[in-house]
Amino acid sequence: MRVLTIIPTYNELESLPKTLGRLRAAVPHSDVLVVDDNSPDGTGQLADEAAAADGQVHVLHRKGKEGLGAAYIAGFKWGLAAGYDVLVEMDADGSHKPEQLPLLLDAVENGADLAMGSRWVQGGSVVNWPLYRQAISRIGSTYARIMLGVKIKDVTGGYRAFRRSTLEALKLDEVDSVGYGFQVDLAWRVAKLGLRIEERPITFVERELGASKMSGNIVVEAMINVTKWGIAARWAKLTSKTPARAK
Ligand code: GDD
Ligand code: MN
Repeated sequence: MRVLTIIPTYNELESLPKTLGRLRAAVPHSDVLVVDDNSPDGTGQLADEAAAADGQVHVLHRKGKEGLGAAYIAGFKWGLAAGYDVLVEMDADGSHKPEQLPLLLDAVENGADLAMGSRWVQGGSVVNWPLYRQAISRIGSTYARIMLGVKIKDVTGGYRAFRRSTLEALKLDEVDSVGYGFQVDLAWRVAKLGLRIEERPITFVERELGASKMSGNIVVEAMINVTKWGIAARWAKLTSKTPARAK
């Protein structure tokens, strides 16, 4: 299977070279697409240099910081057009260990439509992640699980492998949420299609270099969206079972 690992970057000058090196060593058959939002620190230029030195590394430059979701959508479209069979989401900062990518690729090879790296299943863990971030992640995931009725334990997680047909089945142009919300949104869309989602335990290691781009606003947006989607889904279920009363 032809694999493309998509790495979105915004100011990841220090982290990106390490992550790229580890990924190329751990899964040499995977091509890489760095999607850079015109990082002021020059990450895009660094990615260009990596691409010039290695034919399996590609770079997609975007005008400015438009959010994680928009970067991934652009990356997915690029990868689908280029004919890849599996498209992977991976953070640039080393939180997603490239050495664990084979776990996700195996799941897809064995029939999963979407394989998700999970911190909150048996065997999954977090290293150096502040307690408040763990709390937001666990509470957010549990809330989404209840509201949306999905079984996924780590629904905001961003280490994923999509089978090509899964992305083709999604209406990517309709997805406009950012941050964690984007991750929940995509997982929820895949679940609604009834496709096979499998979680695999991963060790999520907090970044050592650079700063997180997630903000309180992004968390609030995600919570509001999950609430809206949950209510809309319940409403749709109710109204489809009860025929409209004649006046
Ligand atoms: N191109 C682009 N544009 N990349 C971005 C943007 C953006 O606007 N915002 C963030 N990124 C990139 C970062 O450079 C990094 O490679 C990756 O997206 C994740 O961003 P972080 O800022 O490191 O996220 P985090 O560590 O706080 O959040 C992690 O946990 C979340 C909750 O589980 C990530 O794994 C998220 O994907 C996950 O949703
Ligand atoms: Mn991070």
